[in-house]
Amino acid sequence: MPSSAPASESLGTGLVVAIDGPSGSGKSSTSRGVAARLGLRYLDTGAMYRGITWWMLREGVDVHDPEAVAARAGDPAIVSGTDPLAPTITVEGVDVAEAIRGEDVTGSVSPVSAVPEVRARLVALQREAIAADGGIVVEGRDIGSVVAPDAPVKVFLTADAAARAVRRAAEEGGSDVSATEASLLARDKIDSGRTVSPLVRADGAVHIDTTPHTLDEVIDLVVALVEAVEAPA
Ligand code: DC
Repeated sequence: MPSSAPASESLGTGLVVAIDGPSGSGKSSTSRGVAARLGLRYLDTGAMYRGITWWMLREGVDVHDPEAVAARAGDPAIVSGTDPLAPTITVEGVDVAEAIRGEDVTGSVSPVSAVPEVRARLVALQREAIAADGGIVVEGRDIGSVVAPDAPVKVFLTADAAARAVRRAAEEGGSDVSATEASLLARDKIDSGRTVSPLVRADGAVHIDTTPHTLDEVIDLVVALVEAVEAPA
């Protein structure tokens, strides 16, 4: 491969870019933008935790009963489409892309994702997706620490809570910003404090505070990290 080849042609064989951080830090837009720019696949692991939560609620499982959740963790078929321009998620064949963004799922996803059996199931699915052909950008909370600790590029994105709330409220179609801030701080607390795979900055992860940056600037920063790994000086 000539060294002048554009990054999008030289990537794609097993490169893993792990992007972790709390809600509203800009993970999804950044991850999709980096994947699209570099011709990589994209996996939103938060959507998988939301998808299994949607299914537990639909099945009438008490999401605050870890044993009940654990007992059903292996049951639903969860399929993620990894095109960064049109990511998809189905649970038991149902397209849940919209439903998983609803308040009921958002309010229940933290206790469900704290159940070890849920994490074991989804981490196995995530590793299958990572192992399939082509490089991939994977976003979540534990990608650089647990799912793909050997990823050559690891990024930990953060942003001020107020900035995160403004972004998340806009994504949710203009919900109340202070209620959104309270909800994401509550989720951060559970996500960071849980015993299994808490949200932490992984060893070797590059910290980017996105607060002062535009989306394009953050994408540029991450693409530069990938290119530095692909073409060491
Ligand atoms: O990124 P998000 O807000 O869509 O994630 C939804 C929830 O899923 C979040 O509260 C924590 C959980 N999650 C997780 O525990 N591990 C991941 N790798 C991704 C998300």
